[in-house]
Amino acid sequence: MTRPSSSHLVDPQGRRIVYLRLSLTDRCNFSCSYCSPGLAASQGDALDRPAVARLVRIFARMGIRRVRLTGGEPTLRRDLVDVVSDIHATPGIEEVALTTNGHRLEELALPLRRAGLLRLNVSLDTFDEGRLAQIAGRGADVERIRSGIAAAAKAGFPSLKVNTVVLRGVNDGELGDLARFAWSHGAIARYIELMPFGGGDPVSVAEMARLLGEQGVRLEPDETRGWGPARHMRGVSFEGGAEVRGLLGFIGAITENFCGDCNRVRVSAAGALRACLGGRDEVSLAPLLGTGTDEEVEDAIRLGLSRKADRHRMEEDSFDSMVHIGG
Ligand code: 5AD
Ligand code: SF4
Repeated sequence: MTRPSSSHLVDPQGRRIVYLRLSLTDRCNFSCSYCSPGLAASQGDALDRPAVARLVRIFARMGIRRVRLTGGEPTLRRDLVDVVSDIHATPGIEEVALTTNGHRLEELALPLRRAGLLRLNVSLDTFDEGRLAQIAGRGADVERIRSGIAAAAKAGFPSLKVNTVVLRGVNDGELGDLARFAWSHGAIARYIELMPFGGGDPVSVAEMARLLGEQGVRLEPDETRGWGPARHMRGVSFEGGAEVRGLLGFIGAITENFCGDCNRVRVSAAGALRACLGGRDEVSLAPLLGTGTDEEVEDAIRLGLSRKADRHRMEEDSFDSMVHIGG
């Protein structure tokens, strides 16, 4: 039995929740220092393909319009392309997006696009192999990620972004090169402030803008805003004597409080609803997706959301590692 219609999800601050970030696994083939400090053993993928499809159907009835698949590394799920097809076919869902480290992207880009994936974010922090190994571990390979991004550009995603977490003294000299590379593939270059999950020294968005200037990228204001917390700028630079242009995005996770217009909720790889990235409050959904009714799942979602705080408090609290929450 299903209720005739479900009222839309609104959190205690009155924010309408339309965006679900769903972690498909806490496994990863990389081990980025800022994401998985002292990586704990994987707890296994809690939601199989039917459970994901059912959960998204229920969320869509509650007003969710956009789903981003995260991890861990979601391309480690062998059923990823089918999971994307299922979500794409769910009534009410307007956009399916994915965040990946790019390692398996060369072979997956086209199948994912054909399955209905619309937006793709690929993480790339550096072009230097040694530096990448230092950040992401020995499994990471710059050339593979570059080929993956090129394949994604060819597959024709309406939105393609290259995500960089900026680390002081590590990759803060490569911001200009990363922008020019992203633009050469029609992608947006996105710079993310380091959130304090592991070690590393953060660089503020304000400083990133200054560094970009020093590294040959002139910034101009741009009013476009996406679904997420990024602020966008237009950039102009020169490559081989020719002028090149493109978009840049900045996520001031710490120095700019983006929580005020938060429209999102998260489901972890363990199948638990996390109302906020900071904080450990969660409500388990996985067992209900096995045996519960749709109403019970809905009630658990509402319970989780009723605890959504007004903002994250990462600067003061301790919290879980990114690999478990799913970014
Ligand atoms: N701070 C900022 N971004 C992070 N990511 C992972 N850990 C952190 C952190 N501590 C980002 C990665 C990637 C996505 C999976 O999450 O760069 O873009
Ligand atoms: Fe894996 Fe992404 Fe975390 Fe790196 S940031 S360890 S690639 S999930």
